[in-house]
Amino acid sequence: MGLMLADKDRIFTNVYGFQPWNLDAALKRGDWDNTKALMALGQDAIIDVIKASGLRGRGGAGFPTGTKWSFMPKEPKPDRPNFLVINADESEPGSCKDREIIRHDPHKLIEGALIAGYAMRARAAYIYIRGEYIREAETLFAAVAEAYDRGLIGKNASGSGYDFDVFVHRGAGAYICGEETAMLESLEGKKGQPRLKPPFPAGAGLYGCPTTVNNVESIAVAPTILRRGASWFSSFGRENNKGTKLYQISGHVNKPCVVEDAMGLTFRELIETHCGGIRGGWDNLLAVIPGGSSVPLVPARDIIDAPMDFDGLKAVGSGLGTAAVIVMDKSTDIVRAISRISYFYKHESCGQCTPCREGTGWMWRVMERLRTGDADIAEIDTLQQVTKQVEGHTICALGDAAAWPIQGLIKHFRPELERRIIERSGGDLTPMQEAAE
Ligand code: NAI
Ligand code: SF4
Repeated sequence: MGLMLADKDRIFTNVYGFQPWNLDAALKRGDWDNTKALMALGQDAIIDVIKASGLRGRGGAGFPTGTKWSFMPKEPKPDRPNFLVINADESEPGSCKDREIIRHDPHKLIEGALIAGYAMRARAAYIYIRGEYIREAETLFAAVAEAYDRGLIGKNASGSGYDFDVFVHRGAGAYICGEETAMLESLEGKKGQPRLKPPFPAGAGLYGCPTTVNNVESIAVAPTILRRGASWFSSFGRENNKGTKLYQISGHVNKPCVVEDAMGLTFRELIETHCGGIRGGWDNLLAVIPGGSSVPLVPARDIIDAPMDFDGLKAVGSGLGTAAVIVMDKSTDIVRAISRISYFYKHESCGQCTPCREGTGWMWRVMERLRTGDADIAEIDTLQQVTKQVEGHTICALGDAAAWPIQGLIKHFRPELERRIIERSGGDLTPMQEAAE
């Protein structure tokens, strides 16, 4: 059993917007409370607390946050300042947690930007927010203006003696700009296309300067971790999977929601506690995509007791990703669902590497024929082989993200793919293919 979170242990106390987002309300919630004293801990000590807390990046990849901060030069050169870039380009299908933070708790993010930026000796933070988040961007601009007006950021930020600017930059609607190096290109005013890594941004990032790119949630939890202590945060979850996390549950549950809970509670606990169960009951569950569309689906039998954390979902052949949990009941046309995801990746491919540019379109076209049954059974294996040729052979992770959902479908739902083809051609079904109906 995972450890369930009590209200007093929630970091995001205004995630549903019951109180205003503004600075006065944020101050009452405890944000910006003697930030100067937190900064007085010292830059390396702050990084050590974040390391000890076990916080891993909340944007999907789960890289240890404190370790990432420690890659930044400790003595930046005047002509080569350090930068913090905050990834608010939340575009992963199923993900909508950063949106709630920005809508209802933007000061947690701005205070986190100051503390994280100070710890990594950054001159400024750039918050890159997705173009479709129009109202959220308005809120963020207004919250940043409030923080400047009260002297919390800018010159002598929060009375700390440290100068720190925060800039908000709006994206223009491209999913790929959420990839960290494409985001840097876009911030520099260029076409948003990923760069080859290495060098990682810490070595050569924004304008060629040392840069750390962090997700909104990773930055927004930092002030609370410092206030309550590393051991408080790491008391939730389990080894390698510490802390609390915003889960976003959509699809066929009775009450879809965004909720903060401990890492490692099981899928069943998450759904029963926060979502009022599966629509039509547990027997009606077909499959779950547990981490946003970039991770493979997991069939019902494997997900129900899986811990919802990095290792628990890896053990069932998937991943935590952004903890965007997409629940599908037996009314779902699973082939159509995955084909739609394939279309998304084809549409969002930036086109600079051949396996992704050509492969995403090719995979989607075959997926569409498999959806209607207008294919040959041998094409299932060919499709599987093509996913393997795309996976790991591209500049950024979009190629992998396009391959994995299809691999998951073939692995778990091959009889359903075969059934459609045989039915379409008027052939006889095996008992397994019949059962797939
Ligand atoms: P990655 O594993 O390449 O990198 C993760 C982070 O660690 C990056 O910031 C990278 O610079 C840093 N890093 C890794 N190795 C390093 C090293 N040796 N030295 C210095 N820094 C290092 O993963 P990536 O491509 O950044 O992210 C992929 C993930 O993004 C996927 O797991 C997916 O779940 C997630 N994603 C999230 C979306 C969202 O809307 N939040 C959208 C699409 C994908
Ligand atoms: Fe662009 Fe796709 Fe290559 Fe990523 S994998 S750089 S999205 S073509």
